[in-house]
Amino acid sequence: MTEAGKSDLDLTRSAEWAALKRHRQSLAKTRIGDLFARDAGRFAQFSLRLDEFVLDFSKNLVTPETMQLLRDLATKAGVESWRERMFTGQRINTTEDRAVFHVALRHQGHAPMTVDGKDVMPEVRAVQTRMRDFATAVRDGHWVGATGQRIRNVINIGIGGSDLGPAMAVQALRPFCHPELRFHFVSNVDGAHLAAALAHADPASTLFIVSSKTFTTQETLANANAARDWLTSRLSLAAVPRHFVAVSAAVDKAKAFGIDPANVFGFWDWVGGRYSMWSAIGLPIAVALGWEGFAKLLAGAHAMDRHFREAPAERNLPLTMGLIALWNIDFLDCDAYAVLPYAQDLARLPAYLQQLEMESNGKGRRRDGKPVKCATGPVLFGEPGTNGQHAFYQLIHQGTQRVFCDFILAARDRSGHPELHRLLTANYLAQSQALMLGKSAAEAESEMRKAGMKAGQARALAPHRAFAGDRPSNSILLGELDPYHLGMLIALYEHKTFVLGVLWGINSFDQWGVELGKQLANDILGGSGIARDGSTAGLMALYDAWRT
Ligand code: F6P
Repeated sequence: MTEAGKSDLDLTRSAEWAALKRHRQSLAKTRIGDLFARDAGRFAQFSLRLDEFVLDFSKNLVTPETMQLLRDLATKAGVESWRERMFTGQRINTTEDRAVFHVALRHQGHAPMTVDGKDVMPEVRAVQTRMRDFATAVRDGHWVGATGQRIRNVINIGIGGSDLGPAMAVQALRPFCHPELRFHFVSNVDGAHLAAALAHADPASTLFIVSSKTFTTQETLANANAARDWLTSRLSLAAVPRHFVAVSAAVDKAKAFGIDPANVFGFWDWVGGRYSMWSAIGLPIAVALGWEGFAKLLAGAHAMDRHFREAPAERNLPLTMGLIALWNIDFLDCDAYAVLPYAQDLARLPAYLQQLEMESNGKGRRRDGKPVKCATGPVLFGEPGTNGQHAFYQLIHQGTQRVFCDFILAARDRSGHPELHRLLTANYLAQSQALMLGKSAAEAESEMRKAGMKAGQARALAPHRAFAGDRPSNSILLGELDPYHLGMLIALYEHKTFVLGVLWGINSFDQWGVELGKQLANDILGGSGIARDGSTAGLMALYDAWRT
């Protein structure tokens, strides 16, 4: 544990936190809709714009005073100085004693970016040059398989941060991807996942990218071994170097797996798994989009980095988004958080953000090891709209849990179906409005009466057809879902997650919570003879019986 971990304050005991509590009480009888009724300029006041990227947070229970009190809290927590520590490569991942420096991966220009006094940019650029050359060769057919065929299928094998970012981005940027390359992402150790990817693959035209920061992850190594067996049984052992490349921070382990050292793309321990899509882990994205497209993704993220670092607090999108989230979670008792992209191509965004936010901030200890005294990372879930509307929105509108939402839409659309995009947009706009305004039982009753329903029936149905409303949400509007704006969007969520971690005083960059399950799975595999609880032993006995 480094010094940074010892100097923590518990923000919940601060005067700033107490002031927010009092302020929350003063708003007890105010509804979000009232704030709009009082102030026609609310959208302008409570939305922030960076080029063609808007965060509208006006449909939250916030006033100018709320925002000022929240910014005071950020000052008290030292968000600015933690941010500076991150951008200057200091070891803010205290429990692992590492820098958190993914911003260097998308850094533009010639200024050095240093960790421990060493400029990391020459190494970053060297790997990027190799990625560019490799991606170009695969795309234009210069890279061929062992039998001389060009590559048609790219199968990424990785899990968590070594899967979700590339899988999300390749899907999100579908219209920009190489038209003759197919991409698959195999993560689960359930053989069904690999089998599905291999079902229509011709080994002669298939390329595997084995992605693992540590190159020790059980699932990834098992899948990579199975994929290698599949390939060698159909081609030959000698074919492996033309069909397998690797991405890892443990370059030696990747080489030991049998991958040609010339085709191992490295990265560094200062890149956290869930922040790694900007590194060589993004290789499938670079192959899919071409280097120019990948560079735009990096440039969009960098634009958000600069904004986060330089914009004043009142205009700062990630800071504001983090503060709004804290307000909803800790002062308005929201239990869950729904991310609702009105873009089918963003279908994997909620899963990506689950790892980003829940692995980063799903913690109950502060950096100094003491228990956190407030709610931290909420349950995050989501689906593209409008699909989610026909599944779980019922709970968001009328359930007893309080859920806050992010709605995301791109204004321009490449689907070639403008009439469908109008429908999509209408739903994006309608849902946040419905959540905010709700509908009283009296309104519901009068609507039913006007439609000709008998009085008794209308009265009985009214409570079921009423909506409490007053549910907070953010709306994000992008110019277009293209590489640049996707880069901005993901960097926004990264920095917002960072802000929340600082406010809660937790280390957002480790993930010890995933270790125990891994350890027990290894015990079970190794048949260590450790006494099992009754449930586990019972399930194991049944499993054995049913397998034989
Ligand atoms: O088990 C969690 C985790 O460590 C994630 O944080 C990480 O993204 C994932 O596993 C995969 O790890 P690796 O890239 O080392 O295979």
